[in-house]
Amino acid sequence: MSEHLERVLERLDETTDAALARLFTFLKIPSISTDPEHHPECRRAAAWVADDLNDIGFDARVRPTDGQPMVVAHDHSQPGKPHVLFYGHYDVQPPEPLELWETPPFEPRLADEEGHGQVIIARGAADDKGQLMTFLEACRAWKSVTGNLPVNVSVLLEGEEESGSPSLAPFLDANKDELTADLALVCDTGQTDAKTPAITTRLRGLADMEVIITGPNRDLHSGMFGGPAVNPIRVLTSILGQLHNDEGRVEIPGFYDDVAEISAEQRAQWAALDFDEAAFLGDIGLKSSAGEAGRSLLELIWSRPTAEMNGIIGGYTGPGTKTVIPSVASAKLTFRLVPDQDPDKILSAFKQWIEERLPADCSVAFKSRGGSPAVGFDLDGTEMQAARAALAAEWGRAPVMMGCGGSIPIVEAFKTTLGMESLLIGFGLDDDRIHSPNEKYNLTSFTKGARSWARVLAELAA
Ligand code: BES
Ligand code: MN
Ligand code: MN
Repeated sequence: MSEHLERVLERLDETTDAALARLFTFLKIPSISTDPEHHPECRRAAAWVADDLNDIGFDARVRPTDGQPMVVAHDHSQPGKPHVLFYGHYDVQPPEPLELWETPPFEPRLADEEGHGQVIIARGAADDKGQLMTFLEACRAWKSVTGNLPVNVSVLLEGEEESGSPSLAPFLDANKDELTADLALVCDTGQTDAKTPAITTRLRGLADMEVIITGPNRDLHSGMFGGPAVNPIRVLTSILGQLHNDEGRVEIPGFYDDVAEISAEQRAQWAALDFDEAAFLGDIGLKSSAGEAGRSLLELIWSRPTAEMNGIIGGYTGPGTKTVIPSVASAKLTFRLVPDQDPDKILSAFKQWIEERLPADCSVAFKSRGGSPAVGFDLDGTEMQAARAALAAEWGRAPVMMGCGGSIPIVEAFKTTLGMESLLIGFGLDDDRIHSPNEKYNLTSFTKGARSWARVLAELAA
């Protein structure tokens, strides 16, 4: 190990308290991008993190978009060395339901949690403020120990990841030259367990659709009209009830047409991870899989598509009863996609499938923001080798090549708009409760995460 790296790692170990204090300041800002009332807080988070990047020694600026601003920073002082673009997001999910938080979501604290040691509890602790700060802390340590970063680094922090990244494509388009690097580094994914590092090599895509079914031209008295009048809630639930068969498969024709089975080698690798299915389900209060029959949980999450109903709206839901036949009922769905599935094709097949099932006197309208396809990465670039070596050195074991059930829309955009591959390294865990009450990030995820990035930067320079 180079003498520099050794001192950088020492510096990280000596400054954990200061790093935690910075993270806590960041976590106190409720930067909820889906809620317009919190948009000033999003701007405050952007300003805070831009200031911090400037403190580290980057040339950082808050850059306006039509939505929440981007933060872009550069430190290009290593001619001849690779150039990486680091991506993370400073926005967080809404904290609701608030009553399920043991302490307020934007008052970060350290707690002892069985099996995890100390954990940082706050909305955004793991997704993604704690994760993105692991990279910034690594950069800070490099800068303060050696005056430089080992490679040329640009940073792009987004404030709309949790609301579908609407400003991203135009921003990448308008700033192509500035943002294109040799490689993107993304810290927004996880590990299979707390002791084993991981590189994510597959991400699911995402497409959304809202289905709005209208029957009668107004809400009706259910005594006066009940019987003859078609009820759109009944129509909607009946159709959506046919979306999956008894074996958990999606019934839309063509849904699986472009879905490739994973290779035998891949299946064997995932099986060798000895993933504890019972513990995974137990953590969320479940005992059995509701997915496609005969497939392991990792296979389902990492390599199979889903059709999910996220919300259903219609009729009277207030206190007491109201004898009504509603005029309208609607549902919001999202589809998780796997490589080679085309979001537009899936959405039109779904629309057609609904239309074919619509009874007399009902009409349907659809709303969608479209979608982003899944991504898969090839495994043998030199950068991948560098990252593997760096992670193995920090964790004392080789990194797992894992999939990810979630979606990070920018990764596909990096590829298509900037022609750039991404290296996805994250330190989150399945039990971090991201998007849920009492979100946490293990203190060791934070400290070893920063040490890991310090090593990855060194390896990328070598
Ligand atoms: N960090 C997550 C993606 C993720 C989820 C990675 C689970 C690893 C494990 C990201 O912030 C996220 O929540 N993405 C959304 C995207 C959507 C809002 C467009 C998702 O996957 O639902
Ligand atoms: Mn995230
Ligand atoms: Mn998220």
